[in-house]
Amino acid sequence: MIIRPQIQGCVARNCHPIGCRAAVEQQIDEIRAAGQFNGPKRVLILGASSGFGLASRIALTFGAGADTLGISFERGPSDKGIGSAGWYNNIWFKQAAEQEGRLAVNLIGDAFSDAMRQQAIETIRQQWGQVDLVIYSLASGLRVMADGRQVRSVLKSTGQPFTGLGLNLERYALEEQTLPVASAEEIRDTVTVMGGEDWQLWLQALQAADCLAPGVQTVAYSYIGPQSTYPLYRDGTIGYAKEHLHSTAEAINLQLADIGGHAWVSVCKALVTKASAYIPVLPVYLGLLMGVMKEQGLHEGCIEQMHRLFASKMYGAQGVVADGHRLIRMDDHELSPAVQVAVSALWAKLTPQNFASMGDFAGLKRDFLQLNGFDLPGVDYEAPVNIKALGELQP
Ligand code: NAI
Repeated sequence: MIIRPQIQGCVARNCHPIGCRAAVEQQIDEIRAAGQFNGPKRVLILGASSGFGLASRIALTFGAGADTLGISFERGPSDKGIGSAGWYNNIWFKQAAEQEGRLAVNLIGDAFSDAMRQQAIETIRQQWGQVDLVIYSLASGLRVMADGRQVRSVLKSTGQPFTGLGLNLERYALEEQTLPVASAEEIRDTVTVMGGEDWQLWLQALQAADCLAPGVQTVAYSYIGPQSTYPLYRDGTIGYAKEHLHSTAEAINLQLADIGGHAWVSVCKALVTKASAYIPVLPVYLGLLMGVMKEQGLHEGCIEQMHRLFASKMYGAQGVVADGHRLIRMDDHELSPAVQVAVSALWAKLTPQNFASMGDFAGLKRDFLQLNGFDLPGVDYEAPVNIKALGELQP
């Protein structure tokens, strides 16, 4: 079958499996070109199949020779569809890692569940005994609690509603989007899904099972952003969840003191991923930011960002480079005054008519398509894809 992109609003409804392989290979090539660093050798990644989690896995495997256990929630091909990009990313990553002589194990299922924690513990015991690094990179709209209750996160404002121009990737057009005000319950629920509680449950379970090596590190990914985005991120429901994640780092750090371990939060730069494209209005900021950072020679994609995190800010000559709140500031370039002044100047002039000539919205759209295996150089999109044969490959 010939596969063309199906985008609905800011969500990709399909993927191109062969293009996903090209996207994984592209990231591996970037890491090979960036050079080796001395990093952890046994790594557990929660949310390993796309975005920051996948980039972390590639950076550590091909940059530092790490063996990895990756957990993700993805769909394989079935009579309902081709399957998700993350499903194929897991397959292609594992093949490439094994060719490199590295161990790569994938567990597919709900990382919020105790059953998955047990499965991960069993796998770690069988493969390595212990892990040196645990990466928490889940982005989810839903958490099923131990008692079966379903809790949903929402992307809303707090205090007062926020309206601004947002990007519709399907129509490649700007349109007005509003973040309504969240109720107290919605804020609480978003913290339950995207805050630090589940991260802590993982570290508690792993430590109780003696699966954490002495001196273990753990890192979760967060975002703060500039003041211009506070109403839609930092002061929104997701911002409350991230605050909770930050304070959980302190609690986990105390917990790990017994084994000389440490917990950190990496405050990352805004980047195009499945999760960030879904946040109202944020992709407009992102399109402008990408243009300005490229112009100033500061642009980083997921893979460059994760390489810099591990090679320079966690496992470089200076060890972990963090502020007094356990935050590793990977958003340093994004938040530099020169970048923010330029973004704000463009944002003030942005209209639905002129947006395509400002920032780098074409680059943003290309990055979004590439996350789903489309628009990659070297892929023949006119060639039919044999989904039946791909269905025999297991992640
Ligand atoms: P993503 O959507 O690309 O990846 C999310 C990962 O979580 C996927 O591997 C998915 O399979 C997995 N996942 C979701 N629900 C799951 C479940 N129930 N069980 C197992 N796996 C599950 O998202 P992205 O952007 O890479 O986000 C990762 C983290 O980075 C999030 O905490 C996000 O807030 C944070 N972050 C993202 C930024 C961005 O600009 N994209 C900026 C700063 C932080």
